[in-house]
Amino acid sequence: MRILSLAALMLTPLLVGCNQSDAKEVKPVKATPIYSLRGDVALKATPDPAPFATYPSKGHTLPRAFQNQPPLMPHNLYPITAKRNSCQSCHGRKAKADVPVTHPSHHLDDGSLNPAYNFCTQCHVPQADNRSPIVANDFVAPGYPD
Ligand code: HEC
Ligand code: HEC
Repeated sequence: MRILSLAALMLTPLLVGCNQSDAKEVKPVKATPIYSLRGDVALKATPDPAPFATYPSKGHTLPRAFQNQPPLMPHNLYPITAKRNSCQSCHGRKAKADVPVTHPSHHLDDGSLNPAYNFCTQCHVPQADNRSPIVANDFVAPGYPD
């Protein structure tokens, strides 16, 4: 008991000392402004609706930003469920000549779709022509495109 209280006595100035030096280092934090995706519109007002998405005209693919990027979908979304993948009705191995076939990495040895790739939109997202980015982004992959 005596040892304990002795230890406590010895530690107390240390702890107090720590608190004091910490207090000195605290700087006021400037809050980052928070913007709503709704825009700068009063809560009770109805904001203008976002424009309808327009996709590149048929036959156009979108440039990739870095090597091995899952290419963006130059068209709208199609439904995917655990039982039926409507993307595969166009992009499957028997795709028409003008449709890019699903990448070979997505297939099992017997040519069927690897179930790990069933939910295409996990990696491929649709990209409309008339959408401006929500957050500014000036990312440039080193050496790509060259
Ligand atoms: C009705 C047929 C059809 C369906 C269904 C379809 N696509 Fe496509 N997709 C195309 C065509 C055709 C292209 C080539 C670009 C063009 O002609 O518009 C394309 C292009 C793409 C590309 C770009 C490939 C590249 O190399 O740039 C990706 C990625 C893609 N589709 C993914 C998907 C996904 C994921 C789905 C399901 C959510 C899907 N597609 C459903 C017809 C289809
Ligand atoms: C785990 C992520 C992932 C999933 C899930 C996925 N893909 Fe991909 N896909 C990729 C990547 C990465 C590439 C680019 C490969 C490369 O060029 O190196 C690609 C490429 C493609 C291409 C272009 C092929 C080419 O030769 O240019 C098409 C078309 C495509 N995927 C369709 C699909 C469809 C349809 C599905 C769903 C059935 C799907 N992908 C699921 C990651 C994915």
